[in-house]
Amino acid sequence: MAHVGIIVVAAGSGTRLGADAPKAFVEVRGVTILERALAGVFGSVEPAQVVVVAPASHLAAAKSISTRAAGAASGSISVVAGGVTRQDSVANGLAALDESVRVALVHDAARALTPSVLFDRVVRAVESTGNGVIPSLLVSDTIKRVAGGTVLETVDRSALVHVQTPQGFPRQQLVAAYAVAEQEFTDDAALFAAAGNRVEIVEGEARAFKITTPWDLARAENVLGITSSIRTGVGIDVHAYDAAEPLWLGGLYWPDEVGLSGHSDGDAMCHAICDALLSATGLGDIGGRFGTDDPRFAGAHGDVFLRETIALVEGAGWTVGNVAVQLVAKHPRLGGRRTELERRLTGLVGAPVSVSATTSDGLGFTGRAEGVSVIATALVQRA
Ligand code: CTP
Ligand code: MG
Repeated sequence: MAHVGIIVVAAGSGTRLGADAPKAFVEVRGVTILERALAGVFGSVEPAQVVVVAPASHLAAAKSISTRAAGAASGSISVVAGGVTRQDSVANGLAALDESVRVALVHDAARALTPSVLFDRVVRAVESTGNGVIPSLLVSDTIKRVAGGTVLETVDRSALVHVQTPQGFPRQQLVAAYAVAEQEFTDDAALFAAAGNRVEIVEGEARAFKITTPWDLARAENVLGITSSIRTGVGIDVHAYDAAEPLWLGGLYWPDEVGLSGHSDGDAMCHAICDALLSATGLGDIGGRFGTDDPRFAGAHGDVFLRETIALVEGAGWTVGNVAVQLVAKHPRLGGRRTELERRLTGLVGAPVSVSATTSDGLGFTGRAEGVSVIATALVQRA
């Protein structure tokens, strides 16, 4: 049983963001705010019980996102419905924590880019002090006290911090504080302190900023950068020559050339491209996807595998940017057919495919003309 519990509150409507969906279900570069927040949670060192608090209207969506984010730890995550205020939502999450939990963390899903180290830092500080612990950062702006549009005074900012989540507490003391709370507090630490408990600060993280307005959403997208929505993959395939077989390579028939052996037509070029695409999208590899015992693929041409692979890739929400493929072999010589090959493969993949070739200087199995080797790379982008 986990002794750390993390409540992720995601039941708000996101009025200030003004999107079509509740804030936690709005995407930042193709991945929802909730899923990004949970990635930070599950990257922390300490195994934890995780409770996601979601809008009653979005429980099913929250469950599927949570299960995916938890991966192998899916047994330790649950989803409960939120309340009218954030405080109500936290109370619902607290009620769902196991009795075995000694340290309870409360985290805003809206702080979607919070790094995992911050969860570890807060847990360690609660364990070592036995008090409430909140992450904080120094205030960099000058702060004024005002009334009716007039400045009354400049506040000494050296005594001020702004605070973030996750906020951590000994669970039983937090439960007791919630039980006696009679007003709305602006954060859990204020509620905890009002019940007579002590709260300490640890260093916060700039990346733990809260996504509140459209400007904050744009900031999160900029922090992640374009590279968070593109991926590359690599694939290699090797087939031995078989003089009894016709040659199929790159989805083309090559008359008067020595063929390649294999369960299918031995089209190493198409197979390497499939592996590169599956690798880029994290969908495994051609052996795992299209088993040699599957009768659909016995003797199948390379274009069949390519079309099936493209359907898998697009089904998982990716579009292909480009593919580069290189043949390492003594023969065939690509020669005058290189452009034809590129046109055929570009048509099959639906994105530019460039083809090149080389020999291996007489070395290895390709140098001894025992077979061909093909290497491919692919670039994909979230659709
Ligand atoms: N939250 C919640 N239940 C509520 C209100 C808020 O679980 N009844 C959660 C939000 O989902 C968010 C966190 O508390 O992760 C911080 O709240 P805030 O940033 O104010 O989010 P919203 O309330 O959704 O946004 P807004 O105030 O603009 O409507
Ligand atoms: Mg709110």
